[in-house]
Amino acid sequence: MEKIGRNDRCWCGSGKKYKTCHMAFDEKIHRYELEGHMVPQRGMLKSREQIQGIRESSVVNIAVLDAVDKIMAPGINTQMIDDVVCQVTASMGGIPAPLNYEGYPKSVCTSINQVVCHGIPSKDVVLQEGDIVNVDVSTLYKGYYSDSSRMYCIGKVSPEKEKLVRVARECMEKGIAMVKPWGFLGDMSQAVNDYAKQNGYSVVVDIGGHGIGLEFHEEPFVSYVAKAGTEMLLVPGFVFTIEPMVNMGTNEIYVDEEDNWTVYTADGKPSAQWEVTVAVTEEGCEVLTW
Ligand code: MF3
Ligand code: CO
Repeated sequence: MEKIGRNDRCWCGSGKKYKTCHMAFDEKIHRYELEGHMVPQRGMLKSREQIQGIRESSVVNIAVLDAVDKIMAPGINTQMIDDVVCQVTASMGGIPAPLNYEGYPKSVCTSINQVVCHGIPSKDVVLQEGDIVNVDVSTLYKGYYSDSSRMYCIGKVSPEKEKLVRVARECMEKGIAMVKPWGFLGDMSQAVNDYAKQNGYSVVVDIGGHGIGLEFHEEPFVSYVAKAGTEMLLVPGFVFTIEPMVNMGTNEIYVDEEDNWTVYTADGKPSAQWEVTVAVTEEGCEVLTW
């Protein structure tokens, strides 16, 4: 990392001298690094202005999901969800981040029942009474990314599926509750995984969350099965997603060989996922996408 003199301007852009701004902060991080912990690199931490940008992107992101809420019903096809995401995002001056991302063909992911994630909207896929559906919306607005998803129960759903949807949400909330400065990402992961296991479910290992803000997917990879006290040190200014995929059966998954996107559970049992974008603050955690 670049060495800054005590009297140089701080790297954060505050205009203050380093010694009166982030010097003690950097030294504290360095002490954790010497103890063998993973620590965030300087470029991973967002300034107040950048967090404000992500906050504004999140306002659009949430408005899009609120619009999706209104159309979810038996009989609609998933292309209609894509249309709403496109229209509402554009009307607010944003861009759907998934469109053309690594060749992804649509503006949103719609993942039904045993589809774990990355389900591709289609006019041929019609929502049926009893389905559980994840709608995952990622938004680029004025240069800043935000990412969140919700589950929807279509009409009357079996008690088993309803419980999976509820517990998946509670897993995310247990994770959020563990986010605080000078804790570790693994504290969040273990809270998620423990709660899923207590309920007889498994958490997907191979796909996780990510840093976010200036790019759609930033470092680090965020696991939801890691142990407390492991993984990256959490410090104010770090922004990432909490988005565990919770499976009713095995956590093994496979990717569709035809479209190379759709991810399914190996045993065909249902999967559920909720997602928020959060920022580590001085006090704890700000959920940007509520
Ligand atoms: N929205 C997903 C996430 O939470 C990423 C989807 S990648 C896409 O990270 F290309 F399918 F959009
Ligand atoms: Co995400």
